[in-house]
This record gives sequence, structure tokens and C-alpha cells, in this order.
Amino acid sequence: MLCGHAVGLVLLALAGCWSGCMADVGDFSPCLNFFYRSWPPKGLSGTPICQRYENQYRFASLYSRQRRSPLFSAYIFSQPEGKRPSADWKFEPQLANATADGNMAFFPPGELDPDIVNSQAIEPDYINSSYTRGHLNPSLHHQTHTDRLSTFTLPNVVPQKAGSNSGPWMKLESEVNHTLGSYCLGEAYIVTGIIPYENDTHWIKGHRVAVPEYLWSAYCCPKYNESVLTEAKLSEFLPTYAAIGRNDRTSTEDIVPIDKSSPKKFWGYDVRRMPLDMLEMYLKQQFGTVINVFYEQCSGLQ
Ligand SMILES: *[C@@H]1O[C@H](CO)[C@@H](O)[C@H](O)[C@H]1NC(C)=O
Ligand SMILES: *[C@@H]1O[C@H](CO)[C@@H](O)[C@H](O)[C@H]1NC(C)=O
Ligand SMILES: *[C@@H]1O[C@H](CO)[C@@H](O)[C@H](O)[C@H]1NC(C)=O
Ligand SMILES: *[C@@H]1O[C@H](CO)[C@@H](O)[C@H](O)[C@H]1NC(C)=O
Ligand SMILES: *[C@@H]1O[C@H](CO)[C@@H](O)[C@H](O)[C@H]1NC(C)=O
Repeated sequence: MLCGHAVGLVLLALAGCWSGCMADVGDFSPCLNFFYRSWPPKGLSGTPICQRYENQYRFASLYSRQRRSPLFSAYIFSQPEGKRPSADWKFEPQLANATADGNMAFFPPGELDPDIVNSQAIEPDYINSSYTRGHLNPSLHHQTHTDRLSTFTLPNVVPQKAGSNSGPWMKLESEVNHTLGSYCLGEAYIVTGIIPYENDTHWIKGHRVAVPEYLWSAYCCPKYNESVLTEAKLSEFLPTYAAIGRNDRTSTEDIVPIDKSSPKKFWGYDVRRMPLDMLEMYLKQQFGTVINVFYEQCSGLQ
């Protein structure tokens, strides 16, 4: 009896439910492994979500209930394999009901429970909105099919202009794949987030989901191939690097200048690469508070 109980506990632990299957929303402690040195970014407040799919934690997001969208998603990079999965969108049941199952779930057919509609974005919010569903944690940065599927959940998504999503931002994601895939020797931790408009002036579907003015991303790869340091072009990219991308053609050029020679489709959706400390400087300026993305700016050696 006692033995069976112990086995049950071990199985629960393996399934990622050790500290209680109800703790996925509201606390990062079950999924601190997705942060460098188990240290979530400091300075932003929101609702932590340990994003669980098929009983395994896949990544972590800081969610804003007011915006009905994430402030950032944090994950460990792995080399992509196979084709991009087809988009099959999910939601987070625990945002609607704290005692619901902690796994992300597919939207059920028919009319949705008002608690789901009130607590998060739903698929019709994005339809006809003139924005695409922009992954913060992209499917492209994961190896296994189930990890890739797990990124298709709306609490990992923000309204992103197509010219950014399928243009300069996608190019950044692909560049990060190449840099980390070629030179990172251990874990690479990535945090991708948003910068809101001043006074949150842009929303989709009335006042349903807040649109970000910029997206940002930063990685931390503490163990990398030091031979890159001799290659002048690459030395600045490791162990850490960052970027900010425009999500609005009409934003000022103070943070990210516009490349006037871009093709029309992508014009005004530029991404500016920059060192981590410069990203943190802009985050401080835009959020009005000090924000630290990685423990000791990713320089703290073990
Ligand atoms: C919340 O979820 C639990 C478990 O699924 C269910 O028993 C309960 O009725 C739900 N509460 C609400 C308000 O929907
Ligand atoms: C989107 O627009 C089309 C055409 O105007 C309309 O038929 C459809 O109901 C709209 N869908 C949503 C979810 O707003
Ligand atoms: C990711 O980067 C690796 C290493 O540079 C490369 O071989 C692979 O083709 C890239 N994958 C994609 C989908 O871009
Ligand atoms: C934001 O709100 C402040 C205070 O109400 C106002 O002074 C400022 O002009 C607003 N900014 C924008 C971009 O609307
Ligand atoms: C580091 O990079 C060099 C040259 O790019 C390569 O020859 C070497 O095998 C790499 N080392 C490791 C451990 O990947």
C-alpha cells in the first residue's frame, strides 16, 4: 500500500505535477528551469504561467490579465527539426478557473464558457483584426514535435503585424537559430517580450487584446565555442545579445530606425540588434522601471 503510494508520487513527479497540478498559474516555481540560474526577469509584474502541455512543462510566460496577452515568454532553445506544425490553437484553463486542469487545452467547439472569454484571448479576437498571432516563444526554436505544438497557445501570443511576423522578426528568429545552433555549447535561455504603447492606446476587438508597439528578445548562452571570439563579426553575439522590433510603421524612429530600402511589404517593421544592456536601457525608459532580463546580465559564471 505504502509502496503503491510511493510509486504514485514518483509518477506524479515524472508527470511534472509534484508540487500540485494546480500551481501552474500564479507561480513560476515549478518551471524555474526555463530561466537562466532559475532567475525570472525582474521588474515586470503579471501572472506567471508554467506552460504545460501533455503533462510536461514546456516553457514559462508572464501573462497580463488586463492585456489578455503575455508580457514575455521564456524558454530553452533547441535546434528545430521537421516541418512547422499546423496551427491548432489552445488556451489556458487555469486562467479561467484556478481549480481547472493545468495543461493547456484545445478550444472546445461551440460557445465558450464566459470565464474563458473574460480571462484570455480567444480565436475570433484575431480574426479580421489586421494582426496576426505572433508567437513570443516561436515553434522554430524547438526540436520535438510536442514542444513545437505547445507554442500554439494564445497566452504565448500577441497581436503582431504580418509585415513584422513574416518579415524582419522571422529573420531574427532564424538568425538566432543559426547563431545558437552553431556556437552555443550548453543551454541557451531566451526571453521574448513586448513593449506596450504609451497609455495602452491600441487594442483589437474593441478593448479585448492589447497590441504591443514593439517586440523584444534576448538570449543567454553561458557556454559557447570560444573560437568565435576571434571572429570579429561574431564576438559581440555571445554570451548574450538582444533585439527590438517595430510592430507599427508609424512609430517614431527613436528606438528602431527604418531602413528606407526595405521591400514595401516589410517597410517600417525593422528589427534593431543591440547588446543586452542597451535593451535594458530601452525597457527602463519605456516601462518607467528598472528591468533585468538575466541574472547578472548572463555574465555570472557558475
Ligand atoms: C472549475 O473547475 C472545476 C474542475 O474542473 C469544476 O469542478 C468547477 O465547477 C469549475 N468552476 C467554475 C466556476 O467553472
Ligand atoms: C470577419 O469578416 C467577415 C467578412 O466581413 C465576416 O463574415 C466574419 O463574420 C468576420 N469574422 C469575425 C470573427 O469577426
Ligand atoms: C537552424 O540552424 C542550424 C544551424 O545553423 C541550421 O542547420 C538549420 O537549418 C536551421 N534551421 C532552420 C529551420 O532555419
Ligand atoms: C498618455 O497620457 C498622459 C497623461 O494623461 C498624456 O499626457 C500623454 O500625452 C498620453 N500619451 C499618449 C501617446 O497618448
Ligand atoms: C568550435 O568552432 C571551431 C571553428 O568554428 C570548430 O572547429 C570546433 O570544432 C568547435 N568546437 C566545438 C566544441 O564545437
